[in-house]
Amino acid sequence: MSAFMTLSGDRVCLRRWRDEDREAFASMNADPRVMEFFRGRLNSVESNAMVDHIEKHFSERGFGLWAIEIPGVAPFIGFAGLEVPGFSAHFTPCVEVGWRLAFEYWGQGYATEAARLALRYGFGTLAFSEIVSFTSATNLRSRAVMERLGMRRDSADDFDYPRLPEGHPLRRHVLYRLDSSSYFGMS
Ligand SMILES: CC(C)(COP(=O)(O)OP(=O)(O)OC[C@H]1O[C@@H](n2cnc3c(N)ncnc32)[C@H](O)[C@@H]1OP(=O)(O)O)[C@@H](O)C(=O)NCCC(=O)NCCS
Repeated sequence: MSAFMTLSGDRVCLRRWRDEDREAFASMNADPRVMEFFRGRLNSVESNAMVDHIEKHFSERGFGLWAIEIPGVAPFIGFAGLEVPGFSAHFTPCVEVGWRLAFEYWGQGYATEAARLALRYGFGTLAFSEIVSFTSATNLRSRAVMERLGMRRDSADDFDYPRLPEGHPLRRHVLYRLDSSSYFGMS
């Protein structure tokens, strides 16, 4: 599949980013509810730099964090997809599945549906042997997505996220893993 094609589910469409998404993404990244489990909110310059980084990842690797569209409902509600993290930890190099939705679209199953499309693409088309996900130990909503996806956490994999300073309350992270044989074994 070309990096420019879309992945479609029952309600959710994963597609490449458009310039028009940047304003809505900046609003999300300025929302303290969305950014509760990150180092801080992003201003519009930082938000646009993140989109540039996402686009560069697509160009270099052919996959990335897709923009999520809900056809007939909203042209852009956030992102979900696959990324190779740029930091070093005991489980890297790896492929991560991740997500971030605008607050008004939480609680409707969109993140899980979008992540399932990304996992299908990662294990099916790209034939990855393992996909991980990680978040601050206290980010229970994100952990619930990981658990709905059938990902499993071993507390021995817990780690200190190197992009947060020592002593930061969000630094302790949990790691969830899913390997391809478990993925294909799920009904
Ligand atoms: C993490 C995040 C994407 C989770 O969003 P979410 O809305 O809780 O997750 P989903 O989209 O999968 O929705 C699941 C909820 O929708 C409900 N739901 C409603 N209609 C549904 C439907 N048709 N299908 C499935 N679930 C549905 C589920 O019951 C579940 O509700 P619950 O949380 O009360 O149990 C969101 O909180 C977020 O963007 N947070 C900020 C960014 C962030 O922290 N990202 C992760 C960093 S690692």
